[in-house]
Amino acid sequence: MQTIDPSKVPYKTLSNGAKIPVIGLGTFGSDNYDAETIAQAVKMAIKMGYRHIDCASVYGNEKEIGIVLKELFAEGIVKREDLWITSKVWNDKHKEVVASCKQTLADLQLDYLDLYLVHWPFPNYHAPKCDVNARQPNAVPYIHEDYMKTWAQMESLYKCGLVKNIGTSNMTIPKMKLLLRDCKVKPSITEMEIHPHFQQPEIYRFMKDNGIEVIGYSPIGSPKRPERDKTPEDTVDIEDPAIVAIAERQNVHPAVICLKWAVQRGQITIPFSVKESKLFSNLKGVTEDPLTAEEMENISKIDKHCRLVKGQVFLWKNAKSWEDLWDLNGEITA
Ligand SMILES: NC(=O)c1ccc[n+]([C@@H]2O[C@H](COP(=O)([O-])OP(=O)(O)OC[C@H]3O[C@@H](n4cnc5c(N)ncnc54)[C@H](OP(=O)(O)O)[C@@H]3O)[C@@H](O)[C@H]2O)c1
Repeated sequence: MQTIDPSKVPYKTLSNGAKIPVIGLGTFGSDNYDAETIAQAVKMAIKMGYRHIDCASVYGNEKEIGIVLKELFAEGIVKREDLWITSKVWNDKHKEVVASCKQTLADLQLDYLDLYLVHWPFPNYHAPKCDVNARQPNAVPYIHEDYMKTWAQMESLYKCGLVKNIGTSNMTIPKMKLLLRDCKVKPSITEMEIHPHFQQPEIYRFMKDNGIEVIGYSPIGSPKRPERDKTPEDTVDIEDPAIVAIAERQNVHPAVICLKWAVQRGQITIPFSVKESKLFSNLKGVTEDPLTAEEMENISKIDKHCRLVKGQVFLWKNAKSWEDLWDLNGEITA
């Protein structure tokens, strides 16, 4: 197997001195890959030089990933302190964050997480693989008081050392402003959808200006997401002429250009694949041949404001459309 020296992979230093590699492996297999296949991809990726893995309890594979982590430690391939492991509390566990985190730690066979995120700001459960039009009868809009109770549990995990950093995911600026106003421990990282056709410049700037690092998910535009998660308006990043032209010049897949753009722009990127050649080209891509200033400028102009992970399944009864989840007019939709 071809490998990359992990010390060649850039990282970001957080305010508490923690270092997070700018590329991590996503582990959401969606409908396409089973838990064992993803766990084996994690093993391959770490042997290849990846040091950052993006997990979540809802991905349904933390037990299998825990087994391979244990094997990697036992084989002396990597030490725990050299890895960055993220996980996330799922929507139906907002009132049981500590128990959920402990379950994740047991499944991953770890003593601590490097980062624990609130996966969504809504406590709305939906069954895995359910139809996008399914609505949970008890679903509610964002309730700040409840979110702060969830956040207080996140802070307790941080204070007792079970997690080294805490953060958010799928937030909006107005929700984040309230959290920053009311929290005792600030989120150090936020995870949100970012790819060339969905650059989210305003919230990206807001987070950075508030000292919060950004992890961009679906960085390639999630080309293998299930059909039920696609809409006719969705655009395809890896077919964009600007991306394709740069890929041809560099003789790499357009996916790799999306990742180079992500890292050079300043976000942390977590592409998913279970295939050796793709894992390798993605890791290699962020360590060499940066894009030129002109290429970065060209990509900055192809934003299509095309959100792919719309979150319809989290809508409450009287919500009008998925836009209600994202506070588009700058106010929290109640
Ligand atoms: N916080 C959240 O709410 C949230 C939401 C969504 C995702 N995430 C995280 O973000 C991760 C990544 O997002 P994603 O899985 O939606 O999408 P993505 O990383 O944008 O796209 C993944 C797909 O791109 C293809 N690909 C990867 N590298 C490639 C390459 N070099 N050349 C050609 N094709 C390539 C893969 O195809 P193959 O399958 O053929 O390898 C894979 O299925 C997830 O796994 C998850 O960890 C978080």
